[in-house]
Amino acid sequence: MVENIVILTGAGISAESGLGTFRDAGGLWEQYPLEQVATPEGFARNPALVHDFYNARRKNCAEAEPNPAHFALADLERNFKGSVLIVTQNVDDLHERAGSQNILHMHGEMGKAKCHICDYHWHSPPELFAKTPCPSCTKPATRPDIVWFGEMPYHMVKIELYLQDADLFVSIGTSGNVYPAAGFVQQARLAGAQTLELNLEPSQGASNFHAARNGPASEVVPQWVGEIIRAGL
Ligand code: OAD
Repeated sequence: MVENIVILTGAGISAESGLGTFRDAGGLWEQYPLEQVATPEGFARNPALVHDFYNARRKNCAEAEPNPAHFALADLERNFKGSVLIVTQNVDDLHERAGSQNILHMHGEMGKAKCHICDYHWHSPPELFAKTPCPSCTKPATRPDIVWFGEMPYHMVKIELYLQDADLFVSIGTSGNVYPAAGFVQQARLAGAQTLELNLEPSQGASNFHAARNGPASEVVPQWVGEIIRAGL
């Protein structure tokens, strides 16, 4: 019997909403070297470039709409008798806007800012600049509240507790390149969960899953959710 579902999402679930993925051909890391825009060292060297990158992504996100995959996961949370947790690597807010509530943003959120001196966190205005002052300590030390390479992802203790209790672990639209998220499938499996990958094509970690369905998230996710809900699991 399935009581606890943990769903890991990545950039692929938001691709059909018009937000770019990272590692597909023409993806964000081909256009912008990740060392420059997604590391603390890159930010220390050139904060204006990093703010420009995230200001543009924040604008894209504000113009984007959730797609049927996001809506299907919100439906699942509403209709499933047990617990559904979304652990997302995405920094957009499309899960929230589709109606999901139980979400952990392990790589942070574009809609938030933080102070790299006093660690105060607040809701980000549409644009941040190198001179934007922290509302708490007033220093011009504002950065996007995004977990960069070399930094510790958020919510790890809670995520590991959920993985321990998961009966079903589903990974959607992620290439399985970035740890610790790429290792969640093995953790869930060791704890006894069934594991399923829903991705456009087999990911790098596809062989770690019990089962896979390949296709666009806007098709495969609503189809899978419909089956779960109809089965009354
Ligand atoms: P990637 O760009 O690495 O992988 C996206 C995955 O989505 C690929 O496996 C694609 O095949 C798949 N995909 C593309 N379009 C899809 C669609 N329409 N439906 C279903 N799947 C589709 O993105 P992530 O795995 O999310 O971290 O990347 C993980 C982390 O690496 C990101 O959170 C980010 C990045 O560097 C930070 O910025 C810290």
